[in-house]
Amino acid sequence: MTTSEYVIDVKDLTKRFGEKMAVENVTFNTKRSEVFGFLGPNGAGKTTTIKMLTTLLPPTSGTASVLGFDLKTQGRKIRERIGVVQQQDSFDQGLNVETSMEVYGLIWDVPKKLRRDRIDELIERFGMHDFRKLATLDLSAGQRRRLQVAREFIHDMDLLFLDEPTVGLDPIVRRNVLDYIKDKVKDGLTIFFTTHILEEAEYLCDRIAVINQGRIIQIDTPGNLKRRFGSAKAVEFNLQEESPPGFVENISSQESISSLTYDKSTKTYRTTTSRPELVIPEIYRIADRFRLTISSIFIAQATLEDAFINMVTEDDKETKGRETG
Ligand SMILES: Nc1ncnc2c1ncn2[C@@H]1O[C@H](COP(=O)(O)OP(=O)(O)O)[C@@H](O)[C@H]1O
Ligand SMILES: [Mg+2]
Repeated sequence: MTTSEYVIDVKDLTKRFGEKMAVENVTFNTKRSEVFGFLGPNGAGKTTTIKMLTTLLPPTSGTASVLGFDLKTQGRKIRERIGVVQQQDSFDQGLNVETSMEVYGLIWDVPKKLRRDRIDELIERFGMHDFRKLATLDLSAGQRRRLQVAREFIHDMDLLFLDEPTVGLDPIVRRNVLDYIKDKVKDGLTIFFTTHILEEAEYLCDRIAVINQGRIIQIDTPGNLKRRFGSAKAVEFNLQEESPPGFVENISSQESISSLTYDKSTKTYRTTTSRPELVIPEIYRIADRFRLTISSIFIAQATLEDAFINMVTEDDKETKGRETG
């Protein structure tokens, strides 16, 4: 490699669309054979980051090298050695699944024999036998997603970008796809992977960057994220009555409370905190003001999902505070 020992090396990468800061001073690096995850809610800046790193979109500022090549000046070299699975699918609607894969192999100049072998293997591994002769136009959303991911593996690459590859897949297919990706990583492939599903990031990623509103708010291993944020507690409660308008918002806006969610099926309110002893009296106080009766309240162990939501909502509050104050 020429400019960096890292497969992806990004410093202060920024993308602005007019007034909108889609990606702001993002800095990270990934090593060879690492699965690096970008985890964040809708609109966080995941796709925009991928578009920049795959040379589809020029950054507003910042620097990046990909596979040792400079993003600004060596885009062609980068494109030759990466794979990209974009968020939207992008194949010729007229072809059937097998032909579509065949054409993709041709575009990448994969020799005929190798191409055929790989297509057979991919159809097998991605469970696409039943619809291999179907026009891509007639595929279900999940089948299209599978084809989109599978065909990328027809060609050789050193680095693969996957933008929410498992959206629309059922749990078994999803697991198959993730396990296939894991196998490729064992063979030396490096993966940049985006998702808004925490469990998936945890299953696949060596390190996770949590991104919110264009900024990275944490980078760590799934295990460390769990240790650092998983020790939080969740406070759950039920009310005797339906809550009136404004109640949830009122609780969520409290300084000591990150956000309040409501589960309709169990009629349970839930919030995450490191200080339940402060939060519980606060909940009683607000309920009282709304003339509501709390029928039960208890403290539970927070999950990593809680921790993630917590991280993001705290960050949103901070951002708001900075903008208004
Ligand atoms: N071409 C564009 N013009 C204006 N705003 C854009 C454009 N592309 C993305 N955005 C905005 O940038 C933010 C980040 O978008 P995106 O990277 O697609 O988020 P994610 O993939 O994490 O859901 C969003 O607020 C989105 O609306
Ligand atoms: Mg996206």
